[in-house]
Formats: sequence, structure tokens, C-alpha cells
Amino acid sequence: TDLNHIRNFSIVAHIDHGKSTLADRLIQETNTVADRDMKEQMLDSMDIERERGITIKANTVRIEYTSDNGDDYVLNLIDTPGHVDFAYEVSRSMRAVEGSLLVVDSTQGVEAQTLANVYQAIEADHEIVPVLNKIDLPASECDRVAEQIEDVIGIDATGAIQVSAKTGVGIRETLEAIVNELPAPKGDADAPLKAMLVDSWYDAYLGVIVLVRIIDGKLKKGDRIRMMSTDAVYPVDRVGVFTPEMKPIDELGPGEIGFLTASIKQVRDTRVGDTITHEKKGTTEALPGFKPAQPVVFCGLFPVDNAEFEDLRDSIEKLALNDASFSSEMETSAALGFGFRCGFLGLLHLEVIRDRIEREYNIELITTAPSVIYHVYLKDGSMIELHNPADMPDLSTVDHLEEPRIKATIMVPDEYLGDVLKLCQDRRGIQMDLTYAGSRAMVVYDLPLNEVVFDFYDRLKSVTKGYASFDYQMIGYREDNLVKMSILVNDEPVDALSTMVHRDRAEMRGRAMVEKLKDLIPRHMFKIPIQAAIGGKVIARETLSAMRKDVTAKCYGGDATRKKKLLEKQKAGKKKMRQFGKVDIPQEAFISALKMD
Ligand code: GTP
Repeated sequence: TDLNHIRNFSIVAHIDHGKSTLADRLIQETNTVADRDMKEQMLDSMDIERERGITIKANTVRIEYTSDNGDDYVLNLIDTPGHVDFAYEVSRSMRAVEGSLLVVDSTQGVEAQTLANVYQAIEADHEIVPVLNKIDLPASECDRVAEQIEDVIGIDATGAIQVSAKTGVGIRETLEAIVNELPAPKGDADAPLKAMLVDSWYDAYLGVIVLVRIIDGKLKKGDRIRMMSTDAVYPVDRVGVFTPEMKPIDELGPGEIGFLTASIKQVRDTRVGDTITHEKKGTTEALPGFKPAQPVVFCGLFPVDNAEFEDLRDSIEKLALNDASFSSEMETSAALGFGFRCGFLGLLHLEVIRDRIEREYNIELITTAPSVIYHVYLKDGSMIELHNPADMPDLSTVDHLEEPRIKATIMVPDEYLGDVLKLCQDRRGIQMDLTYAGSRAMVVYDLPLNEVVFDFYDRLKSVTKGYASFDYQMIGYREDNLVKMSILVNDEPVDALSTMVHRDRAEMRGRAMVEKLKDLIPRHMFKIPIQAAIGGKVIARETLSAMRKDVTAKCYGGDATRKKKLLEKQKAGKKKMRQFGKVDIPQEAFISALKMD
């Protein structure tokens, strides 16, 4: 296809504003997929994505469209993940296209993620077409929302297209706007090959599939390509496009978006944002700004049943093949046995992986408290990156600690602002900005990431009845008074319950934790002290008193079946316990104790 008849675009939207529904409509309107094959939400390919209603992996579709001007166009849509954890992937996908549709729910207005993603689009120099969706709903307020787009984002929204992705109104206008308002890609077919690696994933039949955007040159089956970040060379088996099914074609030229396969064994061998060129006569200039995505949140994953450790290892290895930003290494815990310390892009990423292990591989897991990476500066001047509170070096060797901070943007209706400010303040936030757009406030906070990884998002949703939206970016490390808090049960430290906390909040956290544990640990035949400690110093303490009677005693001797049932129940309960010294701690205790309220 000649460059003038190609348009490459992405759709920017806040979760639930209708991105997937609109994409489906565009595909349907152009008959890219026969109606009978049309599954709802064509682009969300994984089941888990469909269930949770979130888009995780970037996907793409090539749409052929005959414009009202009589010409045939190829429209390439790259779907981008909507969640903040995947911001880096969003930024790469954005660089692979020239324009964006900015979809805003006309009953809701601009939200924090709309902002974050639209800024990425602006940074990538996109032409942006605003689309007001859900105009079929009575609560739709197009004028107000258009004005808000102008006020908050600062782009012209007078020509915003009014759409109902549900009923199909405005879909044709949207396709025309893509052709008429978005720029055609530029590129030189005769220059050496330069292609951007936009995404990659593992396919059971074809191996690793690489999504590429050709900048210059041509890519054909049989070519030998080189990944510029690693210098690895591969012969190309296939090139093709997504219709959205994979369709092999002879070659991909400049401006085009498609896939290649090249007997690449694992997704880890491909790096999002890398430049692909030919082995011989390749380009010498890599695309700018390449950096591999780094995990920022770590936690331990342990099988509830120790016998499932090998299965867990298997499942983690399989998932890692398909997810370069998920890291893992073996970990042993005195409390939990053998497991893995895993790194994730964020909390959602963590939840998705944990769910997949539990559901697809059928392994019940204990997840330890998520932790960020602390920088521990030792007295000898060296620095270590601490991924696990259990590895905290002896205090006498430590000079100071630094923790990662984020810039959080929260948008919220006026009436909840007070609660949001309080929440941020409670989490050691520093207010950076507060502005209004109509009846919504936009507040920007500098917050410690570790205060956010536990349950910040849940708390935010609950204090604002679901009306707040939230987005963040990392801003760097800062020193603070941070300590490791250990939990001792019957005088033995339970490593899986160690957490890093701010010194000023340690007593409060420690108290909450021991109180919870007191309720969660069943009574034993002896009394059990439960303590929170920093270094050797106990900062909170509870005592679980001893059990007085045999549990079966209250069954009045007579009823044998009842007694048997009770014993069986007790036995089943035991299986879910972790023996710790002389104390049995139920698995729920680990999960519940680590949640804060
Ligand atoms: P993520 O995949 O989570 O990023 O969400 P999304 O932005 O892709 O939203 P999605 O397309 O899944 O739509 C969210 C909800 O809004 C769904 O229940 C849709 O059926 C509904 N919806 C989308 N467009 C319209 C519309 O034009 N009118 C109405 N009434 N509902 C719509």
C-alpha cells in the first residue's frame, strides 16, 4: 500500500469509556470480520481480560476502508493497554502510530487515565481526534464534556465526533475523520530496514510472534533480521498482518504494521521498543528512547501445599516465557517453605499473574505483602537494592534508606475531595497541585510507592464511592526514616510477615497487625505471645490465651457421628495451616494480616 493510503492510530480512553466497543464497531462497519465471527470485544483476546474487562496486551487490527472520497485505505489500529501498570507499553505503542482517537464517555467526562494516556499521545506528536461516546444514554452531556476536554487537556474539541459505539451512530464519521484528519505515515522504501518492535507474545503453534511497525525499508519472509539491542540474528519464517486473524503476506513496507515470526524461542529474547534491521546492510541508527520495562513491585508466591512447588515452578516458567516484564527467583521462607520472589510492573500485573497461576494451573497460592525496591545505603558507602524485607541487612551496618516516590494524579468530584486529601495525607503524601475542572477537582500528590502498593486504589475507590480516577508515574528515590518491622509469634520471627514501614507509622501498623493475628491464629494448648518488633525492640504485643478444653468436649459424649465430623473438619483445617515452631498459623492469617484497613 502506498503511504498516502495508510493511517495508523490508537484509541486513548479511560477504562469503561468504550474503547473496545468502538474498536469492534469500526471492524464491523468495514466488514473486516464476517458478522457471524464477530465475538464481542474482538481485541481483548485473553479470557481473563474479557472477564475483568481490561485490556492487557497490545493488539492490533488492519482495517480496509473505502472512503467517501472513493479511495481505498488501510487503517491500522493498535490497541493499547488502559492501565497504569503498562504505561511503558502504552508509550511504545503510541510511538508506532501517527494519531489517536480520544474516546471520552459523554456521561462521565475526562478521567485521570484519559489524561495520562492523552499526554503520551501528545508526547508522541499525535494528531488527536476527540470522540464523545455513549450519546445514546440520557445522561450524555456532549457540550459540557467537549468544554472539559478543551479546559483540562487543552485540545480543540469543537469538531468532536458524537458517537454511540453501542448503536453505531457516528461510526462512519469516525472512519472519515481517521482518513481526513490523521496524517499518513512517512518512510523510505529504499532505505535500509528499520522497524520498531512494538510488542511480542508467545503462541503455542507459531512460537514468538513479534508485532512490528516498519519505519523504513521492507521486510520479507526469508530475510535475516538483527535485533539491535542484543545483536541476535534470526531468519524470518513469516510476515503478515492481523485481520484480526493472522494473515500471511509477502512483504511489509514503510508505514505498515504487521507481524513476523522467526523461530524466536522466548518472549524474553524480544524487547519492546527495540529496533529491528537486516543482518546485512542494516541501518546503523537505532530508534531513540529504548529502555526495557522494569518490575517495580515484588512479592513472594508460595504454594499452599508444599508438594505443588514443582508445579508452581513450571507455571511461573511458562508465564515468564510470555511476559518479559515479569521476573522471578526462588525464595525460601521459614514460615512458608519453598516459593518464588516475583517482580511485577504494578499491582494489577501482580493480580493478573497470580490469578492465572491459580486458575490455569490450579495451584493455590499464598502471596506475601507486596514490596517496592528500597535502596539501602550501607556504612561502607555501597548500596544494595532490597526486593524483600526479609533480606534487610543488620541495622548496625546501615547508613540510610531511600524509597521510590510517585507523582499521583487523582480526579474526583468536589464532594469527595476532603476524603481524598485525608487519604493521601495519611499515606505520607505531599500535595503538589490542586485545580478544578467544572465540579471535578484534579489533585496531584507526591506519594511513597510503598504506601500505594498495598491497597491505595481500593481505599480511594471506597472513600469516593468509585468516582475517583487515579494514575501515577515514578519520580525517583528519596531518603526517609524507614525500618523493617518483624512479627514474632511465640517468640519466633515469621519472615513472611516482615514489612518495611515508616518509623512514625510503625507502632500503628504493628498494633493493627498483632491485633489481627490474635484473631486469626487459633488457640493452642499453651499461651502464645504475638509481637511486632523493630530491631530487637518490641513495639506492639498481644497474647493469645491458652485453649481450655478439648473441642470435642461440648459434644456430650453420645453423638459419635457428630464427634467424627468435628474431628474431620479440624483435620481439613489443619491442612491449610502452616506449622511454625509449635504454632499452627492458618494460611488466611498471612493473607489477611498483610491487608490494611
Ligand atoms: P477497557 O477494555 O476496560 O479499557 O474498557 P473499554 O474502554 O474498552 O470499554 P468497553 O468497550 O468495554 O465499554 C465499557 C462499557 O460501556 C461496556 O459495558 C459497553 O457495553 C458500554 N458501552 C460502550 N459504548 C457504549 C455506548 O455508546 N453506549 C452505551 N450505552 N454503552 C456503551
